[in-house]
Amino acid sequence: MLIITAKDYDEMSQKAARYIAAEILLKPDCLLGLATGSTPIGTYQELIRIHQQEGLSFQKVRTVNLDEYYGLPASHEQSYRYFMQETLFDHIDICPDKTHVPDGLTKDPQSYGKEYDELIVALGGIDLLLLGIGSNGHIAFNEPGSYFTAQTRLVDLNPNTIEDNSRFFESKDDVPRQAISMGMKSILDSKRIVILASGAGKAQAIKDMLEGPVDPMLPASILQLHSNVTLIADKAALALVQPD
Ligand code: GLP
Repeated sequence: MLIITAKDYDEMSQKAARYIAAEILLKPDCLLGLATGSTPIGTYQELIRIHQQEGLSFQKVRTVNLDEYYGLPASHEQSYRYFMQETLFDHIDICPDKTHVPDGLTKDPQSYGKEYDELIVALGGIDLLLLGIGSNGHIAFNEPGSYFTAQTRLVDLNPNTIEDNSRFFESKDDVPRQAISMGMKSILDSKRIVILASGAGKAQAIKDMLEGPVDPMLPASILQLHSNVTLIADKAALALVQPD
């Protein structure tokens, strides 16, 4: 895994945005896999700046998002569709029908998950997948204990994740208990992966991802098996990693 060190959150965001912008320049109709959470917000802001000031066009870009809270409509302020519109899509020239976020209101999650994975394949597979990491090592909403072969599906959120994500809701009780999450299989099938991490709260998960065994209890450790992963992390997130 290639590790790119940034001095802080802003530098991590700038480096990640340049990486994504380069992918779009090289392949204007690339399929990007996109993450939510607080970590990629700076990256999206920087991509908007590059679009506005340097003319980077997203017109042909296609996107698939990692996950969505189950039970939240797209209009809900904490839904990931809402997040993507507010944080990125509404500020760039992307075609709305080329953006895909799992439907949190699907009545049949099992068939829907299968269709979502088929859609990714039909779109040619993810060229570049942007990931964050949960403090417990989850990726998308693949919580500790997830099967590495798992497809997109309905998942129960771990109490640790509900606690972490409650900062975005009025109270912990308002955090949905389930989500539709892209499975580890589709994540691993991506051609290239960029994973972002910032802050001391991610330091243990990053250490375990890089140095620990490949273990379903630390879902991000599966990335050790992928041949094209770049970690872009700030110094605080890398603080526990042993230097070579
Ligand atoms: C959520 C998302 C993940 C994200 C994680 C970390 O659980 N499903 O995709 O990586 O949060 O979020 P943050 O970047 O806010 O720490």
